[in-house]
Amino acid sequence: MAPPAVSAVWAPAAMPAWLEADLRSDQAGETGAVWIYRGVLALSRDPALRAFAQRHLATEQRHLGLIGTCLAPERHSRLLPLWRLAGWLTGALPALAGPRAVYATIAAVETFVDHHYQSQIDRLTGDAAWAPLRELLDSCRRDEVAHRDEARAHADSARPGPLLRIWCALVGQGSAVAVRICRHV
Ligand SMILES: [Fe+2]
Ligand SMILES: [Fe+2]
Repeated sequence: MAPPAVSAVWAPAAMPAWLEADLRSDQAGETGAVWIYRGVLALSRDPALRAFAQRHLATEQRHLGLIGTCLAPERHSRLLPLWRLAGWLTGALPALAGPRAVYATIAAVETFVDHHYQSQIDRLTGDAAWAPLRELLDSCRRDEVAHRDEARAHADSARPGPLLRIWCALVGQGSAVAVRICRHV
């Protein structure tokens, strides 16, 4: 389904500070997502994983464009170079270990992003003025859930080893810290 047009709701003077902070975190997060897949594609030669990463990269670039229409460039995070680097490393490091580590990483990231978007969607529920924005965020969230499920389906059904479990926990916690920072910067 085509995402809703949001230009009608983009009115900087009318946007509360908490919503601007939410969208800044989303714009930074989608930037990081694009660079995760660039990191995977830089280092992996696995054909199935590369096809997966190329498909997801296209979706994340579309999300980045959509979120970009909601927030003026001067309101974006000032730390975007850091989020690009962090994203690239989040894709490249597990790519060194192999496809299974990448799929587990993507499942961890997208589990976090699903909850991140859902909490924002919940805050916008009931306010008709922000209904188009809410629908846009929910269309992104549904894509992230599909990414999570696809990554889980590719991941080995065997329980991941301790190193991979620690890495995935770090990825989830790092994502939460990044969101807290870029709500302000
Ligand atoms: Fe995304
Ligand atoms: Fe995604």
